[in-house]
Amino acid sequence: MKDWTTLGPLVDLQNEVGKRYDVGEERLALFLVGGDVYAIGDLCSHAEASLAEGELFDMEVECPRHGSSFDVTTGVPKSLPATTPVPVYEVRIVDGVIQARSKDSA
Ligand code: FES
Repeated sequence: MKDWTTLGPLVDLQNEVGKRYDVGEERLALFLVGGDVYAIGDLCSHAEASLAEGELFDMEVECPRHGSSFDVTTGVPKSLPATTPVPVYEVRIVDGVIQARSKDSA
């Protein structure tokens, strides 16, 4: 996802509650934390699970399946069993609309 891609209105996000967006084959999990939006890959790197369905604690989302925690700012797993980072996306808000692109597209 190299180009900025519109995901939806910012008002769709609830504070510290994950929301999944599908863009073609890519799945993103977005989190609103204190007015800032963070986006990582939704698919847990350990097995089939949606990180958007996990609970957020101190900027880390806990996978709902086996409990690995991922830093929502870096995509890095902070606890086992996951060991591989998930993708990270840049996010911007344009006129109240969320846009994202792959982190390495800058
Ligand atoms: S599926 Fe996420 S930790 Fe296993």
